[in-house]
Amino acid sequence: MTTRAILIQGGRVIDPTQKLDDRRDVLLMKGEVAEIGKKVKGPDDALVIEASGKIVCPGFIDLHVHLREPGGEHKETIASGARAAAAGGFTSVCAMPNTDPPIDDPASVGYVRAAGLRSGGARVYPVGCVSIGQKGERLTEIGEMIEAGAVAITDDGHPVGDAGLMRLALEYTQTFGIPVANHCEDKALSRGGSMNEGLVSTRLGLNGIPNAAEDVMIARDLMLAQLTGGRLHIQHVSTRNGVGMIREAKRRGVRVTAEATPHHFTLTDQAVDGYRTEAKVNPPLRAPEDRAAVLEGVRDGTLDVIATDHAPHHYDEKEQAFEDAPFGLVGLETALGLAITHLVEPGVLALSDLVERMSCAPARAFSLPGGTLRVGSPADLTIFDPAVAWTVDPARFKSKSKNTPFAGWQLRGQVVATIVGGAIVFGGGLLSKV
Ligand code: DOR
Repeated sequence: MTTRAILIQGGRVIDPTQKLDDRRDVLLMKGEVAEIGKKVKGPDDALVIEASGKIVCPGFIDLHVHLREPGGEHKETIASGARAAAAGGFTSVCAMPNTDPPIDDPASVGYVRAAGLRSGGARVYPVGCVSIGQKGERLTEIGEMIEAGAVAITDDGHPVGDAGLMRLALEYTQTFGIPVANHCEDKALSRGGSMNEGLVSTRLGLNGIPNAAEDVMIARDLMLAQLTGGRLHIQHVSTRNGVGMIREAKRRGVRVTAEATPHHFTLTDQAVDGYRTEAKVNPPLRAPEDRAAVLEGVRDGTLDVIATDHAPHHYDEKEQAFEDAPFGLVGLETALGLAITHLVEPGVLALSDLVERMSCAPARAFSLPGGTLRVGSPADLTIFDPAVAWTVDPARFKSKSKNTPFAGWQLRGQVVATIVGGAIVFGGGLLSKV
């Protein structure tokens, strides 16, 4: 780690907030972006990073990660998750509150924040629960959690099942200007299901989760956002109708943002074939037409944000029978490669749109610092090489958990360095010269 001035020379600097996509030098000083120009001369003792052929952009921000601390430290800790994030090019992550105990009061929010500060990786922003104990009954003390550092609320891992509670959350949060995020799943429709309901579930003899389980709650929440004027953030959208309803609500002016995960834009429920628990996620991997709709949603910006839903689980838990294994896969260290390989290379997104979905839009959605390289903004940057091909090897993950369906995949696009507050938190050895 260093807080010396850093001069990044000759990279292709992409910053959609300044409509910039050109060869530039970037000088970082005192934890901030100090200067961007065609030829910048830094102080004599600046650390020089030679970045020609590389992309230099505002650091990626992941609005949806599970760091498992407290209570699940055998899967991930805040420190290991923050380092995995840095290895994936993320400079900030938002930690979901479905820990044990859940993050539902100011003390636990403060704990996550403090552990994040000590991690030496990406910045960690706590997200507090909507309901006490994630029980879906009583609202948490939202204002106190925000004072302690919470940037949004969600009961993720669980939906907010009670429409009245969701309405209250969307009303109360307006006092503070933070969004309410929801994992949309009507449990009355999904109960007992362990994968997408469709031909594949029938063939495998597994109980399915229909698209409607997600769609009815997305519809409800869009109506509640319209009713209240609150800021709604819909997590991990996986269905064709879900994307369509969000697109239409945005047209009507509803204040809604939404996520697409790399696994939902890359895989279908075929990935579960062979009872592969690494591909068991919630919401489940869906049919090809749903995947196509998610891709179209990412392309046209209906799904503003790419978020990983990084959900580490221990090998032993994922080794159980398909129905018994937990939902979730690790995503932080494959997100960029999947996005370059499956969005940029096939022409779904230009590189600048990718930076918009992975950095600028997430910063706006949760009102976080970063997401821009404007002079004076935090020196949070990702440097990556879009051309490098690599093979996913979970043994090399910084994450404590290795549960990925992408092991052995050939991907293109590799993180070269991650800089947080002017300090190199990943990749320093590869690039720097004094
Ligand atoms: O796949 C998932 N894993 N979906 C969720 O909603 C929760 C998450 C977890 O916490 O493991």
